[in-house]
Amino acid sequence: MQIPEITLKEKVVLITGGSRGAGAAYALACAKAGAEVAVFARGSLNNTGKNVKKETGKDVLPINGDMRNLADVERMVEETVKHFGKLDVLVNNAGICESRSLLEATEEDWDSTLDVNLKGVFFACKYAARHMIPKRSGVIINIGSEVSHVGAAEEAIYCASKGGLFIMSQALALELAPHNIRVVTLCPGPINTDMTAEWLKDPANREKLSKISILGRINEPEDLAPTLVLLASDAARNVTGCSWSVDCGALAK
Ligand SMILES: NC(=O)c1ccc[n+]([C@@H]2O[C@H](COP(=O)([O-])OP(=O)(O)OC[C@H]3O[C@@H](n4cnc5c(N)ncnc54)[C@H](O)[C@@H]3O)[C@@H](O)[C@H]2O)c1
Repeated sequence: MQIPEITLKEKVVLITGGSRGAGAAYALACAKAGAEVAVFARGSLNNTGKNVKKETGKDVLPINGDMRNLADVERMVEETVKHFGKLDVLVNNAGICESRSLLEATEEDWDSTLDVNLKGVFFACKYAARHMIPKRSGVIINIGSEVSHVGAAEEAIYCASKGGLFIMSQALALELAPHNIRVVTLCPGPINTDMTAEWLKDPANREKLSKISILGRINEPEDLAPTLVLLASDAARNVTGCSWSVDCGALAK
């Protein structure tokens, strides 16, 4: 038996939310694994581009836009295919999380979270699948969370978006399997990024997190990247319709 090489050589990967945090780490890891990489985000993608260039000599394709605007979502896929000639792997990483209690939450909170974390992801899958289906090949990795599987107080809207994302990914895995397209949900536990920075400043929250994690630590953005590269690669060719957790054991108790 040969152990397959874990590589993304000759693959084109599009990563949403690639301007910072976990998305920027995914972009670098995929480029290091041999892929051509396009990144999409609302904010500047300069830092990601510079970092990838410095570490790998490669130019990423930066695409600005908003996941809430479906014309932008369609354009990100079309620009990637136009530039690189194809799309092999879509990573739906862009996401937002606003903690709101049930009594505080507004319709606007509901709409903005669901629009980015669920509706935008669904349509990104649709536009990517249009290119993947004729090639009978492709991988879609949707970034969930530990709250794709369990609830969290004052995060009901975020939980709804990430729980919905997991089941939606399973449904898409069933629909796309006949076309040899895999759909996987990668579920990180807490990550040390701008999304959590404010919250983690409070020692009580840090304490809370270290109790959630059975390893006593939380993820750095780089901790997710090796699993993402593995799932995107042909070494994981039979992994679809499931969720993979990188959560320091949070779901074990
Ligand atoms: N940070 C955590 O603790 C944690 C835990 C589990 C899952 N996640 C998930 O991992 C993913 C990345 O999280 P992160 O911590 O790196 O977040 P982050 O806030 O550091 O980065 C989010 C990225 O998404 C982009 N983005 C947000 N809204 C967008 C929009 N409307 N249109 C286009 N781009 C948009 C931002 O520009 C940025 O590039 C998210 O889906 C998040 O829900 C994060």
